[in-house]
Amino acid sequence: MNRDPHHPFDPPPLLYRLRDAGPIVRVISNGGTPAWIVTRYEDQRTLLSDPRLSSDQTLPNFPVAVEGIKKSQAELSRTIITLDNPRHDVLRRMYARDFTIKRITALLPAIQRHVDNLIDDMLSGPKPADFVASLALALPTLVITDLLGVPYEDHQMFQDITEKIVSPELPAQELAEATGELVEYVGGLLDTKRDDPKDDMLSRLAAYWTAGEISRAEAIGAGMVLIPAGHETTANMITMSTIALLDHPDQLDQIRSGEDQKLIANAIEELLRYNHVTHYGRRRVALADVEIGGQLILEGDGVILPGNLGDRDPDAFPGDPDELDIHRQFRHHLSFGYGIHQCLGQMLARAELRIVFSTLFRRIPTLDIAIPRDQIPFKSDLFVYGVHRLPVTW
Ligand code: HEM
Repeated sequence: MNRDPHHPFDPPPLLYRLRDAGPIVRVISNGGTPAWIVTRYEDQRTLLSDPRLSSDQTLPNFPVAVEGIKKSQAELSRTIITLDNPRHDVLRRMYARDFTIKRITALLPAIQRHVDNLIDDMLSGPKPADFVASLALALPTLVITDLLGVPYEDHQMFQDITEKIVSPELPAQELAEATGELVEYVGGLLDTKRDDPKDDMLSRLAAYWTAGEISRAEAIGAGMVLIPAGHETTANMITMSTIALLDHPDQLDQIRSGEDQKLIANAIEELLRYNHVTHYGRRRVALADVEIGGQLILEGDGVILPGNLGDRDPDAFPGDPDELDIHRQFRHHLSFGYGIHQCLGQMLARAELRIVFSTLFRRIPTLDIAIPRDQIPFKSDLFVYGVHRLPVTW
């Protein structure tokens, strides 16, 4: 997944080469099993909504990104992300009650307050500041702790564990330990919420569990998915988008004041397409023979759908898809996935991004990156693409 250092926003050169080799190419996945890489946007979308493709990582030949994951997370393999239907939809309907328009709208004033406070703190601190720690990671962490009802004091601990879990380089033993720590932590919280419920998502999960609607493992699995999913992705989107906008000052100027909400909303869709931080691709295994793009995928074959490549497909995004264009009127990107597993938190992520980019450059018009561009520590070594640290000044 190594990127071209001169084009850190573009998918890895290897993926472009695979696209040149054909719409569907046989590869060995990083986990060591053979799989098909599907390069075209339209084929990816078709397959993501095909029930003959399974997300169950315990099936033989599932193209896991690293073999260790399968072994160490077997007990946690039955989360909303890895379950097929009918069970997937049962859990999804339950969790979706915390992601309705009404609930997200109720969170907006708190998100705005967090953004304002974090910017105040950054402005009153030393220069250069680390943008990731000061805002990009701090905001989604605050939001997910509010939503789940996780004590904010514990954020460093679960950020450290998340950092490990999203690292494909981590030895299987350490991955198992990190996962075990998070399981224990979330389990402990659920026990507390069962006995002393509050108005938060973990309390509601504890209630579903005590009512027998979900198992304790499923309730823990929900926390295990939501903690990393809720902050690592959004944090990297905020940082990557900030760099991309600073690199396109003409486009940044058009949204700097934060007044044109329609254009900001459109810019966010384009930034989601352009940055596409979940760069390891959607991964599936075929439960039956499936024909796509003239290729027969046999039952039991692994399938990898690199959405970052699909989102750069010229047939789906006319003009130059490798360019950022905040006026692009095509919002059908795959950054949140597609089909039954399409991101449950997308409305929340969009709300956070919209508030950040309606506020950040208005409050700090001179914001700039404090190191040369070629020294920005991009992280292609983690499941979520982004930046480790970003020294900024103003
Ligand atoms: C910009 C930020 C985000 C991006 C790019 C993103 C991306 C994704 C993608 C690509 C998937 C599909 C996985 C698959 O098909 O295998 C997904 C699923 C999911 N995301 Fe997000 N996500 C983001 C933010 C969030 C947030 C803020 C939350 C919750 C607080 C969240 C919760 C989930 C959940 C629960 C699923 C699983 C849904 C299911 O399997 O039915 N995500 N996300």
